[in-house]
Formats: sequence, structure tokens, C-alpha cells
Amino acid sequence: MSKKFPPASRACMAMLLIAGISSTRFAQADENGAAVFLNNCASCHGASAEGIDGLAPPLRNTELWSKLGSSAPDYISGVVTSGMSGKISVEGQSYRGMVMPPQTHLSSAELAAVSTYVLKELNGHSAIVPAELIEAKKQMPVAHTKLLALRQGETGNEQVAVVVQTGN
Ligand code: HEC
Repeated sequence: MSKKFPPASRACMAMLLIAGISSTRFAQADENGAAVFLNNCASCHGASAEGIDGLAPPLRNTELWSKLGSSAPDYISGVVTSGMSGKISVEGQSYRGMVMPPQTHLSSAELAAVSTYVLKELNGHSAIVPAELIEAKKQMPVAHTKLLALRQGETGNEQVAVVVQTGN
């Protein structure tokens, strides 16, 4: 009678504990770039990053990312932290008047993971985006006009001095 936890409920607690542990694992897996993308970017950029006409440009765009080259981490970290506006054209489609809000509700680790996912997984780029670079951009947000200039290949040389590792 005074037994607080009969065997059945003890088994139940053990299961809850296991469930708790595995859901912690899932929480960590959220920093997985693909998951961050699906939960936060796909609604505008499309589930396969193919873009949505009249809403947001494709993020699968190897031409753009290879043209950006070593500036790619600088560009994408600026876009996710400052958002983006201004005229962007991709394959004849123009995305003028569309505004991307800054994604600063996401942690620097999540933004680093999703940015790296866009570069590496979606575009076969060799660079990764470290959380430190995101952090630096959060501290000193980049103007949209600077981002557009960078996108168009005019290097403003205002890049934050953070060592960007390039994988191989
Ligand atoms: C509310 C819709 C919306 C969400 C959510 C959103 N974006 Fe965007 N994104 C846009 C729009 C619109 C543009 C184009 C802005 C312009 O025309 O200047 C854009 C532009 C971009 C660009 C520049 C593309 C290019 O061709 O230069 C990148 C990179 C990008 N977004 C990444 C992301 C990532 C990563 C996420 C998720 C963390 C995200 N976006 C979430 C709407 C969104």
C-alpha cells in the first residue's frame, strides 16, 4: 500500500527516461543543417531549395555560389543575419520587392549549420560557415546594399576578419 511506485509504473518511468534521452538526441540533431532548413527556410525557398516563383529565389544555384567563391561564407552569413532586399535575378526570374527577414531567432550554431548545408549539400561548395562568423555578423550587421554588391562581385573588403575553414 505504501509502495509509491509499483513495478508497472517503474517500467513506465524507465521508458519515459529513455524517451527523454532520445528526444535530447533529436534536439541536437536539429543543428543538423538539413533539419534547420526544412523548419525555417523551406516555407519560402521550397522544400528542395528550388525557389518559389514570386516568393523567394532558389538556393540551389551553383553558378552563383561558385562565382562567389571564397566570399560565399561571408555572403550567406550576412544574408541570414541581416535578411535581404533589393533586386535579385536568378535565371531570368527577378525577385524585386521581396524581403527576407533576418533569421536571428535561430542560434548562431543553427545558422552556421544551415548555411554550411546550403553551400556544401545544395551547391557542392567546399567552404563551411563557422558559428563564429555568424556571431560576428550578428554583432555587426551588414547592409543589404553591401550584400547586393558582394553578390554582384564587387568586393567591398569590409569582411569581418574571421578565419573561414575550407574543407576538401
Ligand atoms: C519569409 C520568407 C523567407 C524565409 C523564411 C527565408 N528566406 Fe531567404 N530569401 C527570401 C527572399 C524574398 C529572398 C530574396 C530577397 C531579395 O530579392 O533581395 C531571399 C534570399 C536569400 C538568399 C540570397 C539568395 C541569392 O540568390 O542571392 C539566401 C542565401 C537565403 N535567402 C537563405 C535563407 C536561409 C538559409 C533561410 C533559413 C534560415 C532563409 N533564407 C529563410 C525569403 C525568405
